[in-house]
Amino acid sequence: MKGDVIVACDFDSAARTFEFLDLFADSGCKPFVKIGMELYYAEGPQIVREIKARGHKVFLDLKLHDIPNTVKKSMRVLSSLDIDMCNVHAAGTKAMMEAALEGLTRPDGSRPLLIAVTQLTSTSEERMKEELLIPASMEDTVAHYAANAKAAGLDGVVCSPLEASAVKEACGNGFLTVTPGIRYPDSASSDQSRITTPSGARALGSDFIVVGRPVTAAADPVAAYNKCVKDFLG
Ligand code: C5P
Repeated sequence: MKGDVIVACDFDSAARTFEFLDLFADSGCKPFVKIGMELYYAEGPQIVREIKARGHKVFLDLKLHDIPNTVKKSMRVLSSLDIDMCNVHAAGTKAMMEAALEGLTRPDGSRPLLIAVTQLTSTSEERMKEELLIPASMEDTVAHYAANAKAAGLDGVVCSPLEASAVKEACGNGFLTVTPGIRYPDSASSDQSRITTPSGARALGSDFIVVGRPVTAAADPVAAYNKCVKDFLG
């Protein structure tokens, strides 16, 4: 699938977000926007409506992880927003992911894409083994969580580009891989651990890349975004 570059708008206010998005006004492009916890907790559902009203696609990245009933009812609330993609943690189990899907599906059968976070791209294999007591390799763990997400009826997973091909092998080419952990060799990895470049992600089979600081903190965010698009989509 030919995906897109999703820009993580990790800002703490609507004002700061619109200041950023206004930079794109003359460029003729409307980036696919990721709204994460920081912005959503600061501004609530109105920020989703406003960004959608400006013509952007929205990935609402709230990473739900709770008991199935709570997740189902929360997803039912989110289903009234016109979002394009949202997510849960695969660690919540298949029962939780099935409940999420049920809650997200509107009475007319429509719903946004639902994907599952496998292992955060900030988690190294070493931390996963030592702190989370998961003895398998990162690749096997991510592929296994992805298979659970597929069995629960989800559309894809969030993983590192480094695991995208293992996910495709386990779940088929149509199962989406949405991949943060995007960095150029000259940019700081910050808290990210399992990283690659936009063209590396394309070569590894990512459908969507999620890019935050390499675009939002760039001296010229529009140029940085356009470079990511060119490198990822060719
Ligand atoms: O600034 P940076 O490019 O590291 O931003 C990556 C974005 O992707 C952040 O908003 C982060 O919350 C999100 N994310 C991630 N790893 C995951 C899931 C989401 O980095 N596994």
